[in-house]
Amino acid sequence: MTSQLTTTTIGESLHTLTQPIRHAATGPDGSPCDVYVPPLLPEQLGDRAFCSEIGIRYPYLGGSMAKGISSIAMVEELGTAGMLGFFGAAGLPFSAVETAVDQLTDAAFPCGFNLIHSPHEPDLEAALAELYISKGVRLVEASAFLALTLPLVRYRTHGIHRAENGGIITPNRIIAKVSREELAERFFSPPPEKFLRQLVDEGAITAEQAELAALIPMAQEVTAEADSGGHTDNRPAMALFPTIASLADRLEQKFGYSCKLRVGLAGGIATPAAAAAAFAMGAAYIMTGSVNQACVESGTSDAVRKMLAETRQADVSMAPAADMFEMGVTVQVLKRGTMFPMRAAKLYDLYRAHDCLDSIPTAERDKLEKTFFQAPLADIWRDTKAFFLKRDPRQVERAERDPKHLMALVFRWYLGQAAHWAKDGAPGRTMDYQVWCGPAMGAFNEWAAGSFLEAPEQRRVATVARNIQFGAAVLTRANILRYQNVRLPADFAIKPLEDLQIKEYLA
Ligand SMILES: Cc1cc2nc3c(=O)[nH]c(=O)nc-3n(C[C@H](O)[C@H](O)[C@H](O)COP(=O)(O)O)c2cc1C
Repeated sequence: MTSQLTTTTIGESLHTLTQPIRHAATGPDGSPCDVYVPPLLPEQLGDRAFCSEIGIRYPYLGGSMAKGISSIAMVEELGTAGMLGFFGAAGLPFSAVETAVDQLTDAAFPCGFNLIHSPHEPDLEAALAELYISKGVRLVEASAFLALTLPLVRYRTHGIHRAENGGIITPNRIIAKVSREELAERFFSPPPEKFLRQLVDEGAITAEQAELAALIPMAQEVTAEADSGGHTDNRPAMALFPTIASLADRLEQKFGYSCKLRVGLAGGIATPAAAAAAFAMGAAYIMTGSVNQACVESGTSDAVRKMLAETRQADVSMAPAADMFEMGVTVQVLKRGTMFPMRAAKLYDLYRAHDCLDSIPTAERDKLEKTFFQAPLADIWRDTKAFFLKRDPRQVERAERDPKHLMALVFRWYLGQAAHWAKDGAPGRTMDYQVWCGPAMGAFNEWAAGSFLEAPEQRRVATVARNIQFGAAVLTRANILRYQNVRLPADFAIKPLEDLQIKEYLA
């Protein structure tokens, strides 16, 4: 097919999302053959029913980022822009989460909170679930679960009842983030019977509520999390998403739910192309993380924002995680401009090789005290002990019986502090900054290079989000043209646009 559409105006036409493109062309056999591209708005890319159930306009979710990095301000910005933000409750003191809940639950926009599985602190997980129930939080992002837990089931089933028309109303919604099929299956299944029985025995729900709960999925939406910042299984999005999506179809049939099971995609999304690919695979919504940390609203330091703005694709690596250090669990972090991944790996190697701090060779220990800890290890243990005596005295008892556990707690002090030094922008500790980050960051920087979004101080979370979605819609339309054998001009590109320019295109 030939077409005169390869003109300088084609880019403009593709960007004018509200207008169809119609063009009379000639097919290979000389017969007339019309080219057509429908209007396509960013809000049409995902699952419209999902958006309307949640009360958002755009299928765009800002994922939870621990220690308030996905801050109150970030949740507000996304919410007022018609998207959904999750407050990063993990790793924060209970009172800080309570403050955020109080500030956000009466807001005029939907928002959610992270409910993270805490294998070391089951009481904290239960307390958070209770807080969310008592304060009327209607949406949580459940993450890091290896299996379902009683507090999570309690949250989901609280207030379940039948509507007058016979439908089941479940006021509390869970969007579960997983990177494995087995876990997706647990979340897409009804709550386990043993937990429902236990909740009935405890008087938390009635027998009738337990019967209703057996008819609903734990989570109607699962976010498939591919290679991302922070905790990740490094799965490729292209392989993970179709598997979880087909599981959703199978389980919806198997359980005969009255509601639709949906799958969103997270991990690696920070450009229009990545977002377009996610929606092309059928994602109900997309979720971003790394790119949001680089935005002005995030609860990190300007020093980290600057480092993130300079990050390239390969500047990330896996490093031991503070929370599951002994188990060898790793997280994806920034490696450019910090020595954290190497230093954390060194600590893990020492932990594996020795039974206690005293068996580490003197030269090695001196190096640790001078560079990593910048204090005698005895002082670090004194402070760590004081911390755990308040927070969880069982850790101290165990460390005093088991010197290897004491070593783990001391090493975990470094890993934990490294995240705080980064978040606070501690000037003398740049080489130790622990910054969770995935390859999406480098992809965004490459895309934004040379535009106003190159500067860290210009990166507003809603502007970035609008650009990713707007660009995804333009790209999707461009692909529709390509599939009709229309050549795009060599200089066709989707560039970051100011909010006003996007508005004008959508007018
Ligand atoms: C700094 C940072 C902190 C994060 N903390 C959490 C967390 O506490 N809970 C959680 O569920 N996900 C957490 N995540 C994952 C994000 O919510 C999101 O799923 C992920 O970043 C998406 O992939 P991307 O980094 O490739 O955009 C974190 C990610 C980053 C970058």
